[in-house]
Amino acid sequence: MKIAVISDIHSNALALDKVLEDINTFNPDKIFFLGDLILAGYRPNYVCKKIMELKEKMNKNFEIIQGNTDKMIANCSEELIKKTKEAFPCMGYSLEEDVKITDKKYIDFVKNLPESKYTEINGLIIQLVHGSPRSQNENIYPELTEKTVIEMTENSKADLILCGHTHKPCGYSLSNGKTVINVGSIGRSMTKDKMPVYLQLTVDNNGKFFVEHRIVKYDNIEVSKHILARGFKHVEDLAEMFISK
Ligand SMILES: [Fe+2]
Repeated sequence: MKIAVISDIHSNALALDKVLEDINTFNPDKIFFLGDLILAGYRPNYVCKKIMELKEKMNKNFEIIQGNTDKMIANCSEELIKKTKEAFPCMGYSLEEDVKITDKKYIDFVKNLPESKYTEINGLIIQLVHGSPRSQNENIYPELTEKTVIEMTENSKADLILCGHTHKPCGYSLSNGKTVINVGSIGRSMTKDKMPVYLQLTVDNNGKFFVEHRIVKYDNIEVSKHILARGFKHVEDLAEMFISK
């Protein structure tokens, strides 16, 4: 069985289109989406519509959970906007604009998503989380110590934990038998070349699994220009995140 595991789209329409083209080349049995559909991109309604259509089409073979920025949009308040502007100005101004331009039906959709899900394939127990099993906001980065990753995941009953959130793909095969994979980000990849990354997961009939991070080439400069064109305060800081240094 083949599964495409995607995360952190962040309203990046071009990245989503290119990744879906790549996913179609191996025609997966399932798609798992680990959250952060919206915030700080350029076409929130387009990506929401596309993901909801995909969910409809794939039915039970499409699993989706909520990310921390989905929650920010869903629970947005003047206070949250103020706090976010203070901590991370371009995200705060983006949040303020995004709640205005995103259709209410899509905001309701992300509001009602679960924070975590378990699923089982041929005896393999998989947990889908955004940050870590203990927090939607926790960072499973590359180069953590094994002790730290074990602490972050010890409340999970899964053999395989799939996460996103940091926008940096990585993986840990732990001495307690669990495997943790950060699938990376489609819409705002923090890898050196800024190209969208997702995971191809293959599970055999005995529950043995194989993973491959797939990198998809796309026009990040074009996306950076779309972001800049939104014109809100500090948007240039957001646009710069798409440029490879
Ligand atoms: Fe994210």
